[in-house]
Amino acid sequence: MSEVKVIIANESHFKFADQICKVIESSAKDRGTGIAKRTPEYIEKKMRDGNAVIAIKDNEFAGFCYIEAWSHGKYVAHSGLIVHPNFRKQGLAKKIKEFIFNYSLEKYPEAKIFGITTGLAVMKINSKLGYKPVTFSELTDDPKFWAGCQTCTNFEILKSKEYKMCMCTGMLYDPKEAHDEKFDEIEESWFKEKVIKRLKRIKQLMIKQ
Ligand SMILES: CC(C)(COP(=O)(O)OP(=O)(O)OC[C@H]1O[C@@H](n2cnc3c(N)ncnc32)[C@H](O)[C@@H]1OP(=O)(O)O)[C@@H](O)C(=O)NCCC(=O)NCCS
Repeated sequence: MSEVKVIIANESHFKFADQICKVIESSAKDRGTGIAKRTPEYIEKKMRDGNAVIAIKDNEFAGFCYIEAWSHGKYVAHSGLIVHPNFRKQGLAKKIKEFIFNYSLEKYPEAKIFGITTGLAVMKINSKLGYKPVTFSELTDDPKFWAGCQTCTNFEILKSKEYKMCMCTGMLYDPKEAHDEKFDEIEESWFKEKVIKRLKRIKQLMIKQ
């Protein structure tokens, strides 16, 4: 059996666009969290423009993630990270995020890289890549980015908090502040799973009041 390959997606991967959207949506339902909806057309556009990364094994889709540029390229976000259930807990998300992170640094060397997520795995991976948790005010103010949240079930919360906070945590990697530490070599990380879980619970209680 062959290895899982992580590569830059192109037109030959359009056939997976529909499945990618379905797995993103069903995984969000299973987790009981909100998620921005993606259409197969949007995924195909990302693939066509060289702004998507796909993981493939034996011609089967195993994982996916795409790049979005905001505020005229000053910010870059990695969105739509998904690992097919059959390939989870084997380090694949880590591999995809590492790949897309390095690819973004080459493509947009000046840009700050950011993400918003409710997922512990993503926070853990990002912390190892050198991202720091930040308030939403430190992320892009490009209205098009925040418009992407409209299809999320938590959008009313975001609106009611005037786009200053929501269920997601904002994380930012600033290449200007980047240090020499490499992936998996950061001993003192801000990511402490128990603390993050507790903070998430507190945030849920406060926000939903
Ligand atoms: C979240 C997701 C991408 C993780 O993919 P994965 O390939 O299983 O993750 P990895 O095996 O690379 O794990 C990376 C790290 O996160 C940890 N992790 C994985 N799933 C986790 C979970 N559900 N909760 C807490 N930690 C988790 C792993 O233990 C690993 O930690 P380590 O570096 O200390 O070993 C995958 O479960 C998924 O697609 N979920 C649905 C979509 C989703 O939540 N996307 C993110 C939206 S922002």
